[in-house]
Amino acid sequence: KTIQVLNGPNLNLLGKRQPEIYGRETLADVERMCREAAGDRHQIRLLQSNWEGQIVDWIHEARDTACGIVINPAALTHTSVAILDALNAFEGPVIEVHISQVHKREAFRHHSYVSLRADGVIAGLGLDGYVAAVRRIVALTAAPA
Ligand code: DQA
Repeated sequence: KTIQVLNGPNLNLLGKRQPEIYGRETLADVERMCREAAGDRHQIRLLQSNWEGQIVDWIHEARDTACGIVINPAALTHTSVAILDALNAFEGPVIEVHISQVHKREAFRHHSYVSLRADGVIAGLGLDGYVAAVRRIVALTAAPA
């Protein structure tokens, strides 16, 4: 089983971009942490794009290839009906992650289109949010004993 871990615009700069907000660890660290959290039964496919349409295409691919989606849509969280619609066409669990505590920041970060679909929302736990999200998908997609 594959868990898709999707990352939106500017997250390729994670570790270098506004480290006072997002920390000094990189997307490679996120990938390593997700792999550790996923265990033997789940694969991690971590992807990042600065392009909304690319993220929509990857969500479509997930319909046939992934059991769940962890998504940090970054700025597209607050703007993208297209990503919301794509996620609504995906049947497995979706967990939304924000590294920073968006509700403590500017008002425009308080609204998320993706939250209308997400089965869980994590904000402000730093990179640990991805780990919690992966664990949740593993729990929700584990075969019954
Ligand atoms: C973010 C929060 C968004 O508001 C922002 O645009 C980002 C990252 C986060 O992980 O805290 O790029 O999604």
